[in-house]
Amino acid sequence: MAKDPQSIYVCQNCGRQARKWIGQCPDCGEWNTYVEERFRPSAAAAVAAGSRFRDVSPIQFTTIESQDESRTSTGIDEFNRVLGGGIVAGSLVLIGGSPGIGKSTIVLQVANSLSRDGLKVLYVSGEESERQIKMRGERLGIAADNLFLLPETNLQSVLVETEKLRPDVVIVDSIQTVFSEKIESAPGSVSQVRDVAGQFMMFAKQTGTPVFLTGHVTKEGSIAGPKTLEHIVDTVLYFEGDRHHNHRIIRATKNRFGAANEIGVFEMTNEGLVPVSNPSELFLQERPEHATGSVVTVCMEGTRPMLVEVQALVSGTKFGSGRRMAQGFDQNRASLLIAVIEKRLGFQLAGDDVFLNVAGGMEIDEPAADLGVIAAIASSFRNIQVPPEVAVFGEVGLTGEVRGVLQAQTRAREAQTLGFKKLILPESNRKGLEKLLGIRVVGVRNLEEAMEAIF
Ligand code: TYD
Ligand code: MG
Repeated sequence: MAKDPQSIYVCQNCGRQARKWIGQCPDCGEWNTYVEERFRPSAAAAVAAGSRFRDVSPIQFTTIESQDESRTSTGIDEFNRVLGGGIVAGSLVLIGGSPGIGKSTIVLQVANSLSRDGLKVLYVSGEESERQIKMRGERLGIAADNLFLLPETNLQSVLVETEKLRPDVVIVDSIQTVFSEKIESAPGSVSQVRDVAGQFMMFAKQTGTPVFLTGHVTKEGSIAGPKTLEHIVDTVLYFEGDRHHNHRIIRATKNRFGAANEIGVFEMTNEGLVPVSNPSELFLQERPEHATGSVVTVCMEGTRPMLVEVQALVSGTKFGSGRRMAQGFDQNRASLLIAVIEKRLGFQLAGDDVFLNVAGGMEIDEPAADLGVIAAIASSFRNIQVPPEVAVFGEVGLTGEVRGVLQAQTRAREAQTLGFKKLILPESNRKGLEKLLGIRVVGVRNLEEAMEAIF
């Protein structure tokens, strides 16, 4: 038991609280993540006293004034798209991602664009000095009079300055560097990060000012990740992709004001992040045209269809039983599909290593990619290439049946737009698509039919 009643132990990975120190977190399974955190009585009392809505009495639904949901454009199309069409007044947006991926870059670009439109933007930075930001800003061509920098990490001072300046938009880079005096634990700990986010939430809701927070995620979980904040904020945007590729994907994993899973695609250049309006083109531009084991499939990312290349390499194993490795695709799903191939198509893969890769660092987690994965494996196994003008999609079940997927029409249109000549899809999705110009649409019911149609 903790000696001090104000003291609790908090898992720095998932935020679970305990009265005593625990070696392994029962919730998230991480080791050595519990840290003692002490609350000052005032903070503890405030927490105990309940929510900020304490004095509010119930309101009749019909008497609430309806509001036109006005959105402010960030001036960056791909960013507007992930936000659900622009910035909503009073919203709290968290932008997460690994260090160096481009969080500061995108928020500075947004700040620049907004201030050019005449909005007053306050950029609070605890990570870099104003000189460093200026240097970065000059690289990005920023010269806006309405942009104010505040190198400060004390939450209370930040709020005081904000009160004075009355900005239209506040950006905090990053939440892990800001600390609240009310809480004793170190900046970046779960209690700190939560309290700071809570205070900005209150500020955003009371003043109607949108607030952007950036936050690092680390695999080790040593710094309290934005994961613990996801339920507090309105919108969570995550940077995907890695630093070895030039493109960056921002995905809305949660959005109270728009579609979740919507993505924005950017390219990191010398002038910062440049929106990519046609991602399919980007992801296919390096496709080998005459190689075996390469297949193009159509995924839905939010409301947007996207063509991606799935690659497979099947080769005799040097060890006893073959390895299965998948990058950008769920490992378990891959194993399941390999089992289906063995059973339903009679391929002997037990003595082979099977490697799967989604080109360009994309991640797909849709069953609609099943048929593409299977076609890629079959192509590599049989050493026959899939014609480059063919695109496929469809979910595959355990009996080898090809099942219909959502939004077939949108997917088919995208394949057509990108100049594909033949599309292989589930028979149940074929209806209404026969008349698409310039592309032959073939419906298949099971794997045998699919193989016949593809090769
Ligand atoms: P940054 O936005 O500082 O990352 P984060 O805030 O997520 O830690 O991005 C830093 C990386 O981006 C760094 O490797 C340099 C690169 N970069 C460019 O390639 N071009 C640019 O115009 C800028 C500003 C950064
Ligand atoms: Mg940064």
